[in-house]
Amino acid sequence: MQSNHSPGPHLGIIMDGNGRWATARGLPRGRGHEAGVRAIRPVVEAAADAGVGTLTLYAFSSDNWKRPRAEVALLMGLLRRYLDEEIEALRRSGIRVTLVGRRDRLPRGMAARIARAEAETASATRLHLRIAFDYSGRDAILDAARRSDPAVDRQAFGRLVSGDGSGDVDLLIRTGGEKRLSDFLLWECAYAELRFVDRMWPDFGAGDLMAALADLATRHRRFGGLPAASVAA
Ligand code: FPP
Repeated sequence: MQSNHSPGPHLGIIMDGNGRWATARGLPRGRGHEAGVRAIRPVVEAAADAGVGTLTLYAFSSDNWKRPRAEVALLMGLLRRYLDEEIEALRRSGIRVTLVGRRDRLPRGMAARIARAEAETASATRLHLRIAFDYSGRDAILDAARRSDPAVDRQAFGRLVSGDGSGDVDLLIRTGGEKRLSDFLLWECAYAELRFVDRMWPDFGAGDLMAALADLATRHRRFGGLPAASVAA
């Protein structure tokens, strides 16, 4: 695996389908996002149990600011509640939490909450949970380009892009049936195995994660090279 940070694989998940999950039940979209937050804990625990090193969850893209003001406010409230209510359980579970993305546009007090959550879980080593919030893969690359110099190599540039050396994504999962990257971890997904799942995010569970990991184990990853048998021939 190409992660230079945690020993296990790096998984990225695009948690899509909260709105449709709610609409299908005759509920307002916000109830779908609430159910989406509830779906996170079992998947994180299953990932830690399965030896995943890093899990990056896409919770709010920089383009999500285009959504109606009330939905944006609801998502901000959910992040606040998540940081207030989940961090202690994550710390006890040996899970380190960090946020990737911009912090300067978040509501007042959020950056301090994020810093506290990161500090309180900083020494945990069982799993690194990264929450991508006000995140844009293109902006991450652009920022890294602005901070680097012409002599930079791929590895050093990749560290600038990820911000924390989390390394390449091994498996990218997207729920909700759509098949696109939506500006998520563009540099880090150069050789990611892709898995698109029709299930809406609130219905995605530990079993789905285990099935994805079993599928990953069957993929023949060549990183642009040839299968071992062809090289020997
Ligand atoms: C996509 O559903 C989901 C999001 C906008 C992000 C996922 C958000 C959560 C799981 C809740 C927030 C998480 C934290 C940690 C605070 P959608 O609204 O695009 O669904 P749709 O495609 O069915 O409309």
